Amino acid sequence: MVPIHPRFRIQSGSRSARATSRVGVAVLLALVLTLLTPRPGSAHIVKETPWHPVPAAYLRGLFLANLGPAIRWDRIDDEWSQPAEGEGYDGLSPLDMLEEADVDAEPIRAAIRDEDRQALYAASTAAVSRYARHFLAEATAKLDRPGAANADVQRARQITRAFEDPFIAAVDPRAAQDLGRAWLTLSNSVGHSGVMGIGRLDARPEPFAQAKGTVETYLRSNYEVSAFETRRLLAPLPERSPTRDLEAEAPFWLPPGTKFNDQDPLPLLVLNFESRGIHEADLPLIAYGDMLFDSPQIFGDPGKSLGITCSKCHNRSDINRDLFIPGVSHKPGSIDVDGAFFNSAFNDIRDDPIDIPSLRGLRFTGPYGRDGRFASLREFTRNVIVNEFGGEEPTPFMLDALVSYMLEFDWLENSMLEPDGRLNDAAPKAALRGEVLFNTPFEGMGDRACSTCHIPSANFLDRLPHDIGSAERSSPLARDSFFDTPTLINVAQTAPYFHDGSLDTLADVVTWFDEQFALELTQAQRADLTAYLETIGAADTPWEIFDDENTRFALDWSELSTFLTTLDVLIEERDQFHALLLLDTVAPDLRLDASGATDATVLPRVFEIADALDGIRARIEAEEWVVAEEQNERYQELAETYGESFR
Ligand code: HEC
Ligand code: HEC
Repeated sequence: MVPIHPRFRIQSGSRSARATSRVGVAVLLALVLTLLTPRPGSAHIVKETPWHPVPAAYLRGLFLANLGPAIRWDRIDDEWSQPAEGEGYDGLSPLDMLEEADVDAEPIRAAIRDEDRQALYAASTAAVSRYARHFLAEATAKLDRPGAANADVQRARQITRAFEDPFIAAVDPRAAQDLGRAWLTLSNSVGHSGVMGIGRLDARPEPFAQAKGTVETYLRSNYEVSAFETRRLLAPLPERSPTRDLEAEAPFWLPPGTKFNDQDPLPLLVLNFESRGIHEADLPLIAYGDMLFDSPQIFGDPGKSLGITCSKCHNRSDINRDLFIPGVSHKPGSIDVDGAFFNSAFNDIRDDPIDIPSLRGLRFTGPYGRDGRFASLREFTRNVIVNEFGGEEPTPFMLDALVSYMLEFDWLENSMLEPDGRLNDAAPKAALRGEVLFNTPFEGMGDRACSTCHIPSANFLDRLPHDIGSAERSSPLARDSFFDTPTLINVAQTAPYFHDGSLDTLADVVTWFDEQFALELTQAQRADLTAYLETIGAADTPWEIFDDENTRFALDWSELSTFLTTLDVLIEERDQFHALLLLDTVAPDLRLDASGATDATVLPRVFEIADALDGIRARIEAEEWVVAEEQNERYQELAETYGESFR
């Protein structure tokens, strides 16, 4: 079955406790959204509204300044001083934009020059606040022309977005509401020019001035104060927060430009037992591992609160091509898993984002890690949970479950490639010519062939680390740039290439080898070798195919209900810890996934099931096992009666 996180639940950066209390609202919202929008099977990915360059540079700058101890001031400088991308910004940098609005940008420059975090916070926060107020002032001057002030009001709102969610929203919810109302009043009181004289509406300066006052007062007293309190973690929490504790309440957040969606189209997952006609529901250990692969509960913060799971990065055993966190990734699909962000105690200080590897065929591809530093998959997995993501020590059962699940990951089938690694007649001519080259020893490579390391009859692996010159050594004679030979099966699906994703296409890889080892290939030979890599790397069906029957929500439900089959065993064994972990993962997921249902009429039934799960959870927590057993039976009846209709 299938681990997926269908949407960007990270967006608001809300803490899980808050998220739970908001479930009622979320449910209503989901209902409304589902009723309003016709949706194709796979399209419930939330697209973030684009950010204005100034608040984006501001938040990314603070985020980068939190990633210590080796803070990348050059990147913070770039955020502020490089020309903004996107139309309509005329090649201006965020600093230029401030200056155009008569906001003094010099203190920001000075803070970056002095590498002073607190000064960066003070200078950039005040500048963003003043920049927002600049547009409110511009708007006021245009109130005599109906509708003319609208663009400035919207601009001001876009800029204060940097302070609002999740920051003001987290620590000062009442102010967040007041501000929301004020923005609504501002938008509603600028008037309307009408269409060809019809529908013209004059501006209403009085409510406008009052609402503007509300926003300005809040901005001045919280974001333009003369001396900001020192913050360990930089985040734009309002200075006069009613909680008066700028650290304890700080929400976890990710900067603008973050992409953590599931991919669209969704990769196809091939599990060995399924290919053999065995159902996951009959494999409780594997089903539990599948659940854990999809559970943020096993990680520590911030991963846990941000909803990060194994399957976010290793999307259905594949990679996640889109995944990107500014400052933590250097390219889409890459991430620095041992940096300051996920677990500062496990910070290796090296700025070394790694291209996410595919986990297909995992039982054949050890040792693990791009450099093969772990012989055991179990050790690797523990390291991911405890060290990389700061989670609690997993139980032996959890490790067994995760490992046995991942050992089922198979490669995608390729009808041009035989199991012994040879191409068959279905392969294009160019690829067959390339196959000969791949097996030819080259003097430049020390009389080795490509196939010496990527052994075709051994899944294109030799399971050895080599230094092929793809990374910089720490010194000319150091032996610290070795990498494990990667498989080439399905390699056409996993661009970019090399451990750091430095090469974008397979043609680039061929060119790289040609130059690195002076292979002296002709242009035609390079093309043939590339065709060969594309052919052995191909897949017949790389993506999940959705239709009226196999909808996204049907798939989600079939996963979640499979995870829940393990509840029987756990209740029978009175295993409170693992049962609660299961329910804490599945019930919130079910509610979220329901927003992807194509048939909105199923929602009340989905929520009935989710409520039933909450009921079981409460009984298990109270160790009322017999009642829990009864309620589990009741859940199973519901699941059976309703499940069929879930689309
Ligand atoms: C934020 C993204 C991210 C998350 C979350 C994540 N991984 Fe990874 N994973 C990576 C990256 C990047 C690598 C390569 C790391 C390296 O080589 O040092 C990797 C490597 C691996 C490997 C080694 C693959 C190989 O062939 O060498 C395994 C196994 C693995 N991860 C399992 C997991 C499991 C299990 C989880 C959840 C408990 C998980 N990962 C969570 C990004 C992630
Ligand atoms: C000495 C062993 C060796 C030889 C010979 C060799 N490779 Fe590799 N190959 C590797 C290693 C190690 C990597 C991983 C490099 C990295 O991650 O930085 C790699 C990476 C690759 C990749 C990228 C895979 C990915 O998923 O990122 C491709 C494609 C590839 N090699 C093709 C070839 C071709 C074509 C040849 C012959 C011209 C060749 N290799 C010769 C060891 C070898």
